[in-house]
Amino acid sequence: MKVFEKLGVAVVGTGYFGRFHARVFKELPEVYLCGVFDTDIKRAETVAREIGSRTYREFEELLDDRNVEAVNLCVSDQAHREPATNICRAGKHLLVEKPLATTIEDCDAIIEAADKAGVKLMVGHILRYDPRYRIAREKVIEGEIGDIIQFYARRSNPIIAARRLGDRCGKYTVIYHNAVHDLDQMLWTLPGDKIKASAFSREGLLQSEGIGVSDAVVTILKFENEAVGLMENCWALPEEHPMLIDAVFEITGIRGKIIIDARQQGLAVFKHHGGFEYTDTMYWPEFKGRVGGALKEELSDFVRCGIWDHNAECGRPLILPLPYQQLLLSHHSPQS
Ligand SMILES: NC(=O)c1ccc[n+]([C@@H]2O[C@H](COP(=O)([O-])OP(=O)(O)OC[C@H]3O[C@@H](n4cnc5c(N)ncnc54)[C@H](O)[C@@H]3O)[C@@H](O)[C@H]2O)c1
Repeated sequence: MKVFEKLGVAVVGTGYFGRFHARVFKELPEVYLCGVFDTDIKRAETVAREIGSRTYREFEELLDDRNVEAVNLCVSDQAHREPATNICRAGKHLLVEKPLATTIEDCDAIIEAADKAGVKLMVGHILRYDPRYRIAREKVIEGEIGDIIQFYARRSNPIIAARRLGDRCGKYTVIYHNAVHDLDQMLWTLPGDKIKASAFSREGLLQSEGIGVSDAVVTILKFENEAVGLMENCWALPEEHPMLIDAVFEITGIRGKIIIDARQQGLAVFKHHGGFEYTDTMYWPEFKGRVGGALKEELSDFVRCGIWDHNAECGRPLILPLPYQQLLLSHHSPQS
């Protein structure tokens, strides 16, 4: 156990999300941000300059830096395996952004590398740090609504999400990027390995823009305890949609029901002359240049694990269940 010391952290991947992570680590008093790395060196330099940190020119330089005790991996979903396994082999704790990886083989390789090296492995499932979702789960565990009958989850975004992320995880990128949040929440609330899934997708609008991903995917789930679930994920909401994250989560039990309306962040800003703003108050909101919310909670939990050798509140990482993956890979869209 360390006393009066900081945890040395580095951030790998300084794109959209890594920039926020680097900023939070820079602000956490119990962290020394050793530096950032991105294969796009210009991007890394921009972020380093903005937050007052340094860049590593090569990934190996970061791995060899003995001050780096923990690494936050924020690279694209499909590219986690190689850097993640190398970080573990170098003996550094690892926080990998969700999803852990996009194939079972990659997930297994990362878990094996972490177990072999004896380092902490945490997956950044941010909903586990959103007070609404964690309280909902507590209520289920305390038996307030009895045995679960069904889950319902929706997590959709305006079309700008698809334009930014594209088909980096293939046709069903919206599943790897969005659905994984709610699926993790369901399995965190109702653990069980045996899950059946069936999915249907619709293609057309995004493909007409040259983006090779489904407009929407609907997934039907059956859990080990006989509970059923439904997930909707759409990346084709209008650009002007007033919410950046259109998310709802419901749990129906034999004695009650829990509803999380995550569309409402409690703050709406509408302007004359057609202007509007997506305003985040829950996930990584900014106030006076500092980043807070669930992201800060998540990263603080990771740091506590590194410093005090705790296990993350987050627990085991979610691996996209195999039948679900196979189904998505093999199903036919209603159009075909
Ligand atoms: N929890 C959430 O709500 C949330 C939100 C957004 C993104 N994410 C996750 O964060 C991760 C990053 O997403 P993003 O939106 O920032 O993507 P992004 O494309 O904006 O950034 C990815 C960055 O990684 C860099 N990169 C790629 N391979 C690399 C490698 N091997 N080594 C170093 N750098 C590499 C790229 O150059 C790029 O700068 C993804 O896993 C994504 O799912 C999570």
